[in-house]
Amino acid sequence: MRHLIDWHLLPDEVWEGRIEAALRAASGPRMHPVAAGRAIALVFFNSSLRTRTSMEVAAVRLGAHATPVTPGQGTWGFAWQDGVVMGGSEAEHIHEAVGVLSRYYDAIGVRLFASLTDREADRDETKLHRFVRAADVPVVNLESAFWHPCQALADAATITERFGGNPAGKKFVLTWAHHPKALPQAVPNSALLAAARLGMQVTIARPEGYQLDPSVMAHAHAYAAARGTTIEETDDQAAACDGADIVYAKSWAGALAYEVPDAEDALRKSLVHWRVTPDRMASTREGAFMHCLPVRRNVVVDDAVLDSPAAIHLRQAEYRLYAQQAILTWMWDLPDAGR
Ligand code: CP
Repeated sequence: MRHLIDWHLLPDEVWEGRIEAALRAASGPRMHPVAAGRAIALVFFNSSLRTRTSMEVAAVRLGAHATPVTPGQGTWGFAWQDGVVMGGSEAEHIHEAVGVLSRYYDAIGVRLFASLTDREADRDETKLHRFVRAADVPVVNLESAFWHPCQALADAATITERFGGNPAGKKFVLTWAHHPKALPQAVPNSALLAAARLGMQVTIARPEGYQLDPSVMAHAHAYAAARGTTIEETDDQAAACDGADIVYAKSWAGALAYEVPDAEDALRKSLVHWRVTPDRMASTREGAFMHCLPVRRNVVVDDAVLDSPAAIHLRQAEYRLYAQQAILTWMWDLPDAGR
């Protein structure tokens, strides 16, 4: 079964093939109904606009059907623990819920954000793996505690298109940004690995206390070493943006969020100046601005950047649709559009 947990668990030829497939879908026919009669359930434990709608439309374009499921909202709430005495509010165990969906659907997507309270469970993707074990059909990760492979593929295809098929050697800046809430690290983790795997020169700009997880950094350094590039880190956002080809902004929680959430909150509130401004973009090499969305205007990035030609965030969001098509055809081992 072809589960998609994250791209780093799959070989280069799959990753590169999916980027090509997403690029082909972007210029391919609207309808490519190779998956007629198939269906995917999309289980969302957290909110979504892009992931949910792009997967629904991708399924339609392939001739398949998609059903969004929001546990506890119109469906039963799910219990997770093995051996749990289900005397509380949850009416259905994950074993039965996912087991039933496996009998109706040809694949299941699941979104399960980080707890930001249990670091080991987040790093180990404990809930995601429990979900996958209960499934008898392929599972696609629609954003988990540590990874967002759907976003990563769309990002890689957007960047590849931007640089005419050859992003290797371009300067990719992943910059932390202020946000009123502590957010998971799935998107920065996936964006970092995508850029490193594309052979880009990566700089991570983040304040002290906002280093990404060492296990993720190890994957990024391994990609860079294999491609003869580097992963640099700095706490100077202005210097990082100098000469950038891509500025990718994202907020994420610092390590203190697990240990002393109030202290992380206070630290984050002191970092409101970590915002992408026209000045930052002016020092780039005609760089493009990217963000996975949703984005908080004038908190993460100024209106003047988002409303400028440098911003390619809407094309990036559009690529979510083509990436979902490429993921579904791979999961179901079907021909890609344009082949
Ligand atoms: N970028 C992203 O995953 O958006 P949604 O949370 O709206 O799905």
